[in-house]
Amino acid sequence: MTAIHILGFGAYTPERRMSNDELTRLVDTSDEWIVSRSGIRARHVLADGEQNSDAGTKAALQALEHANISPESITHVLTATCTPDYLCCPSTACIISSNLGIHGEMAFDISAACSGFIYGLDLAKGILSHSPDANILLVATEALTRRINWQDRGTSVLFGDGAGAMILGAGSSTGKAQLIDSKCRADGAQHLLLTVGGGSNHRYEPGDAVQPDFYIQMQGREVFKVAVRSLTAICREILSRNELEVGDIDLFIPHQANLRIIEAVGSRLAMPHDRIFVNVDEHGNTSAASIPLALREAWELGRIQPGMKVLLSTFGGGFTWGAALLQF
Ligand code: ACO
Repeated sequence: MTAIHILGFGAYTPERRMSNDELTRLVDTSDEWIVSRSGIRARHVLADGEQNSDAGTKAALQALEHANISPESITHVLTATCTPDYLCCPSTACIISSNLGIHGEMAFDISAACSGFIYGLDLAKGILSHSPDANILLVATEALTRRINWQDRGTSVLFGDGAGAMILGAGSSTGKAQLIDSKCRADGAQHLLLTVGGGSNHRYEPGDAVQPDFYIQMQGREVFKVAVRSLTAICREILSRNELEVGDIDLFIPHQANLRIIEAVGSRLAMPHDRIFVNVDEHGNTSAASIPLALREAWELGRIQPGMKVLLSTFGGGFTWGAALLQF
């Protein structure tokens, strides 16, 4: 089997930080409610004129530097996002390729909501098994605050902007880590519980007001229950098929959507608190970007060391979910 190497990874957080207190000036909520129900204290917001692809490009540049490879060596650009610069085309991956001067074989977007990054890892694995000489740039970038209705307190307090990126290759190249396994799942039966719309489900005439489904809409309580169940199950599945126990995992980086979801999954898996990485307090839910953003932050904080096994898991709209195992 082809060994899949992680050659480098990076992240980007927009400069503008919006605290819960600032949000209370936009919507009827409180810092106390947001912290107690979600663990979120702040989120970061793209500057006016700063695009989702700009954030992805900055994360990609850091990943390229970390991998010590040039943009010209990249053959494939995969961009996971549910808030692309353009709904249909060009893909955000093509814009990022252009920003970086990449003229590769493929550039396309992955639409799998919060699971886009782990879907991307699984796709990269497939591409590298078929084309071991490929160098893949996987970017996960989100501009969720552009799809927030600030008056909707059920959603506006939860989401933020950010980006993460990873370079993957195969063969004899030495990397920072290896992708040992990845596993993805999808079930569309409850797709209306979480939508980010504005697609072709409405026929618009020039000048029409946007429909409510342009914004993030979510039945939070229902999503919460499915998220806890699905995350727990996929973690158990990937551990079991790799003949690993929870005790073999040095660091667990779950999707950063809500601290209560993270704690519920941690407790069902019996994962010790000090092995669970959390940064949802500072970023809110950055959807596909959440895991690579957390991975880079954990690494910068020295929470990831050579020899460690790291478990990633995610859950998002669709519903989609997945997990991946990294060996540092
Ligand atoms: N501020 C103050 N009060 C609020 C707010 C707010 N921001 N939002 C809701 N409330 C009120 C409600 O109106 C309700 O009041 P009522 O009892 O008088 O009717 C009360 O608080 C409870 O509301 P619930 O929605 O039942 O609150 P809950 O405890 O379920 O928490 C939350 C809501 C935080 C959205 C939670 O359900 C959740 O996190 N769900 C999962 C969402 C998620 O993580 N999705 C992402 C996964 S997929 C992806 O990442 C895209």
